Amino acid sequence: MVHLGPKRPQHRKGTFTDVPEEWMEELHKVEDLLTVSADKLKGITKHFVSELEKGLSVAGGNIPMIPAWVMETPTGKETGDYLAIDLGGTNLRVVLVKLGGDCTFDTTQSKFALPGYMRTGTSDQLFDFIAECLKKFVDEFFPEGCSEPLPLGFTFSYPASQSKINSGVLQRWTKGFDIDNVEGHDVVPMLQASIEKFKVPINVVALINDTTGTLVASMYTEPEAKMGLIFGTGCNGAYYDVVKDIPKLQGKMPSDIPADSLMAINCEYGAFDNEHLVLPRTKYDLQIDEESPRPGQQAFEKMISGYYLGEVLRLILLDLTEDKGLFFKDQDLTKLKQPFIMDTSFPARIEEDPFENLSEVQELFESVLGLQITLPERKVVRRLAELIGERSARLSVCGIAAICQKRGYTTGFAAADGSVYNKYPSFKERAAKGLRDILDWTEKDDPIKIIPAEDGSGVGAAIIAALTEKRISKGLSVGMSDA
Ligand code: BGC
Repeated sequence: MVHLGPKRPQHRKGTFTDVPEEWMEELHKVEDLLTVSADKLKGITKHFVSELEKGLSVAGGNIPMIPAWVMETPTGKETGDYLAIDLGGTNLRVVLVKLGGDCTFDTTQSKFALPGYMRTGTSDQLFDFIAECLKKFVDEFFPEGCSEPLPLGFTFSYPASQSKINSGVLQRWTKGFDIDNVEGHDVVPMLQASIEKFKVPINVVALINDTTGTLVASMYTEPEAKMGLIFGTGCNGAYYDVVKDIPKLQGKMPSDIPADSLMAINCEYGAFDNEHLVLPRTKYDLQIDEESPRPGQQAFEKMISGYYLGEVLRLILLDLTEDKGLFFKDQDLTKLKQPFIMDTSFPARIEEDPFENLSEVQELFESVLGLQITLPERKVVRRLAELIGERSARLSVCGIAAICQKRGYTTGFAAADGSVYNKYPSFKERAAKGLRDILDWTEKDDPIKIIPAEDGSGVGAAIIAALTEKRISKGLSVGMSDA
């Protein structure tokens, strides 16, 4: 049988006539490495479905599939004032959400820049910083004080095992975070202790993954939302499953939760294929993994999420420059050799350059890397950025297709958020095309559409806090029988 290899996509724009033949050969090699065919996507999705199942089994698997203890879907009638915080990679966001009870809400928010050292600082520094920001926010918006502690939904976007809704034991840091003495510990008491230290009238009611928040917030306004997804610094998805189909919960469920109840599942599928069975990893992906603070973890995330896309480009450029001696002859490569110097906005801006002579690419290389880049080099670089963005979008949708296949969804919406989804050029179109390739749709209108989500880490966290308070007031369980 003749193996034809992946079909090369058409170049978007510009001609390569001034690009030396030797460079084109190298470019074609990279195209072959980064192009993922429809058949490959289908194979990955098939394995993905079995891994989702495995994660729910008693023995478990690579994908954590964490029951989130959100057992209702929102009705839109939830009311009340809730605080929410979202600890992102670069900012801490504090949001006051007023749920209107008629599918509407109002938000007031402040953003606090996370100091650079925080990612690798100490746990006290982190939780004290959050508590201090909360104090500033409460002092500003509740100057008269509060008669009762304010309920808070804590959006913690890292894999945390939950035996109940207001607890979360961090399994491992992701997205380059590396703070000692948090892995293996419940982050809710750590946050609550700092909140008490700073005497802020706040009670942490629920710990929420950003994907679960996205799912619930989107369902608040769009009942046909089937899953919440983040394509940002990290990647992940959440959906509702039926309690009786979650074998690892059997024997641990309190008697007031019927077997046919729904349970939100935070998949943590950034860990998909940590065993390296199906993903088409390149030598660049291997290097990123080996040099990361948690080698062997988050195999899927490291190929597709925003934290890594600029780094993939940097490693390819270094390869073409240092190993192959093709680019940036006789220039100072000090900056190019600096890991993570190019964040995801770097390849995104390369793709966005509207000028035929790619003059913005030149400005970018000069300002960030101190490099002069010729027109033929810019053309190759632009093509590389397209390939990296396209691979990310196509692989990303395997998670969506897998959840659809697992739950038998044939119509509905996949609600997505995150910097890559919102800002990376052509991501939306490429993702939609990838989903069509996997699910073989012939309909004119895609039966499952990826739509922009409602703000999950603010509104979603508030709704979950409201649902939780309601359950507690009714005397219903919000965790495992022995939690
Ligand atoms: C984390 C998830 C999170 C995702 C998107 C991943 O690195 O493990 O918990 O949902 O990033 O923020």
